[in-house]
Amino acid sequence: MKKIAVFASGNGSNFQVIAEEFPVEFVFSDHRDAYVLERADKLGVLSYTFELKEFENKAEYEEAIVKLLDQHQIDLVCLAGYMKIVGPTLLAAYEGRIINIHPAYLPEFPGAHGIEDAWNAGVTESGVTIHWVDSGVDTGKVIKQVRVPRLADDTIESFEARIHEVEYKLYQEVVKTLIAE
Ligand code: GRF
Repeated sequence: MKKIAVFASGNGSNFQVIAEEFPVEFVFSDHRDAYVLERADKLGVLSYTFELKEFENKAEYEEAIVKLLDQHQIDLVCLAGYMKIVGPTLLAAYEGRIINIHPAYLPEFPGAHGIEDAWNAGVTESGVTIHWVDSGVDTGKVIKQVRVPRLADDTIESFEARIHEVEYKLYQEVVKTLIAE
């Protein structure tokens, strides 16, 4: 079975659903105070954390990440709310082994505010996408995506909650397929 690492910057609910279903070698957070680190402790998952500002530049920060991935012989990196663009150093070493989840139906509404942007645009449906990571922002090849409707009586909160529920299901499905390959 392939070895998984998850990267998350904040809350970590997607990390949690992955870790509840599959063995996760470690979680990495680029924020030392991220809630995902508490989730990891509770689940007994190894975690690492360091911040970009602790390094000279992004290349050195990513070299430290590559070292961790190499040490643990990671086959699949799942970005789950990792709020940094993957740079050339990490891509050179792991492109083709990094996937990301995005809370919209790409190429619709890329970027950091996919849910809010779709809501503000007044769409009748948005979605969730899991894709391979390349050097762009949410531009890599789509692995799987599903539509999520916006219901007439939705508030942004209920719309967001429904999108997150779909994310959890889709991430588990996709990881299951990829680690079995
Ligand atoms: C998710 O909506 C994910 O699609 C986006 O960031 C959010 C992370 O949420 N990239 P969480 O940290 O997994 O709770």
